Amino acid sequence: MSRPAEILLVAGARPNFVKAAALERALTGAGLRVCLVHTGQHYDPGLSGVFFEQLGLPEPNHHLGVGSGPHGGQTGQIMAAFEPVLFKERPRVVVVVGDVNSTLACGLVAAKAVFEDGSRPLLAHVEAGLRSFDRSMPEEINRLVTDAVSDLLFVSERSGLDNLLREGLPQEKVFLVGNVMIDTLRRLETQARRSAVAAELGLEGVRFGLVTLHRPTNVDQPEGLRRLVAELGRLSRDLPLLLAAHPRTQKALAAQGLTGLKPPGPEWAGEGGLALSGPLPYLDFLGLMVRAAVVLTDSGGVQEETTALGVPCLTLRPNTERPVTLSQGTNQLVTRLEELDLALRRALTGERSGRLPELWDGHAAERVAAVLKDRLGV
Ligand code: UD1
Repeated sequence: MSRPAEILLVAGARPNFVKAAALERALTGAGLRVCLVHTGQHYDPGLSGVFFEQLGLPEPNHHLGVGSGPHGGQTGQIMAAFEPVLFKERPRVVVVVGDVNSTLACGLVAAKAVFEDGSRPLLAHVEAGLRSFDRSMPEEINRLVTDAVSDLLFVSERSGLDNLLREGLPQEKVFLVGNVMIDTLRRLETQARRSAVAAELGLEGVRFGLVTLHRPTNVDQPEGLRRLVAELGRLSRDLPLLLAAHPRTQKALAAQGLTGLKPPGPEWAGEGGLALSGPLPYLDFLGLMVRAAVVLTDSGGVQEETTALGVPCLTLRPNTERPVTLSQGTNQLVTRLEELDLALRRALTGERSGRLPELWDGHAAERVAAVLKDRLGV
């Protein structure tokens, strides 16, 4: 019989996969035995399967197949499905990443687990300590609760360290390791630059903007979404914009009857305007991001990726849990739609500057692995 895994690594949603890929490689590379659990929070092939394939993630050892649902229902279902897997595998450490419902659900189960021999697993949270200070965001609740019950907290930027210490977490639990999402970006950047997607969409050598939106505050209120799309349509007369829409956004647009947006195609960029695609595979999205004149987003990860690439980013949110992307990187918050036009013009004419935050050097996951090995004495 094969020996039990030391590390149980949980991934549930698109941004998790990018981080889990870096961790799986580094942990395995350090000689640790890893068991991968996919909760099924994201199940569309475009948000899940193609990510596993392009990121080089192995088939999950367990797929919980939970799927969508309201927050309470989804979180509860993940907890119920994860518990028996945890007790079957009996790992020494459970690693959860990011701030999605899967992070919270599996974190809570791990924090309360006591195995038959009286031992309990350590809970490690990667990307701990980030705070938007906006408790109306489901992700903020997920961050606060997961951090409060974690044994080891791996932090991507210095603000995370300050937040955790201010919340009273003991210093010896907290490690500034850098950003594991950027590990994956650096590993696959060359490949992404070779992606044919820009040529296929007629965007090679064309100045364009890339847009992603999926936050409930931007897409769930019909009137707000209508105004946002109208403004993007207006701005796209001067700069072609491609909206790579999350399924949640696609549904919201369809429910509004906003179906007149054209699909991107070889002749699209010449005509300009706002084009709509579904979610893009990782390498295609990264391939477009490196070529974009500007990125408009409400995603957490995209704020960090644009900072690492030095591409101007406008974040359509009143706050960010990733302040280093503002203070050192290329990110700027746009809190009101009326400010977008001016912010966009400034972003397009400004210097492409920005410094790389501390430890965003492509080796963050190796630092996590080193700490875990030390803690496990292996
Ligand atoms: C989740 C995360 C968010 C992250 C985002 C990245 C939480 C609370 N939110 O948001 O932090 O930035 O993922 O993508 O965990 N849906 C599909 N197909 C799928 C997955 C979801 O159509 O494969 C639809 C669902 O039916 C639902 C909506 O998207 O209508 C919400 O899905 P959910 O997983 O709850 O949250 P996201 O909005 O994707």
